[in-house]
Amino acid sequence: MAHASALMTVMINAARKAARGLIRDFGEAQALQVSRKGAADFVSRADHKAEQDIFEELSRARPKFGFIMEERGEIEGSDNSNRWIVDPLDGTTNFLHGLPQFAISIALERDRQPYAGVVFNPATDELFWAEKGEGAYLNDRRIRVSGRDDLSACLFACGLPFAGRSGRKQALDEAERVLEKTAGVRRFGAAALDLAFVAAGRFDAFWERDLNSWDVAAGAVLVREAGGMVSEIEGGRNFISGGSILAANAEIYEEAKALIAGA
Ligand code: IPD
Ligand code: CA
Ligand code: CA
Repeated sequence: MAHASALMTVMINAARKAARGLIRDFGEAQALQVSRKGAADFVSRADHKAEQDIFEELSRARPKFGFIMEERGEIEGSDNSNRWIVDPLDGTTNFLHGLPQFAISIALERDRQPYAGVVFNPATDELFWAEKGEGAYLNDRRIRVSGRDDLSACLFACGLPFAGRSGRKQALDEAERVLEKTAGVRRFGAAALDLAFVAAGRFDAFWERDLNSWDVAAGAVLVREAGGMVSEIEGGRNFISGGSILAANAEIYEEAKALIAGA
């Protein structure tokens, strides 16, 4: 891939390796829609298999780096400053339902800061990648956040809590405020791709609560390298482990923050 550093190449190779299995399994999951039980167990096996592929590829290339992975949890490395943050399948519910909006998300955290990120949707063959100071890319093309500065023309994305999760009233109140002032709100169901879409200028902003580091770490690098802003919803800097995230183009970031807060 043009411009990709050795580090990016390692991350892209790991994502592509896991993608080969996932795309086969996605075909199977689509075929399983007619069965009464659906494809839940099957998808969970696909998820673990993808994580194993990524784990093997990254540990082979950088044996000293630690990991935080959605399924395995934390694995300490002998190198304290570099840690991979991995979601092998973001958008599981979409995958399970045969919807082609899911991704592999791989980030590198260096000295506790998000440093590089890859978000790959193998169903659409869209590979988003970025490394600190080097810009953000979609396949071979440089991407930038949108330049829209008029909220009424802006398209927002959000997350909404489903069964078993708390915070629904707050999320709906926030969505109501945003819907009143903007061109619309989308809920696509894969946070890593929501962030990648902000980086590519498709969405002007994205916000969600109760996320984990593996949902947002790679996407956050993409947004920053594409010229956008990322923080916790209230503005704090701990969006990797703090649970909430707001990403927006720099023109509307402050307005978006105030609008979501109802300030
Ligand atoms: C989920 C997706 C979804 C978000 C959920 C996440 P998963 O990740 O990113 O968009 O709303 O909170 O848990 O479970 O599909 O990896
Ligand atoms: Ca996820
Ligand atoms: Ca996942």
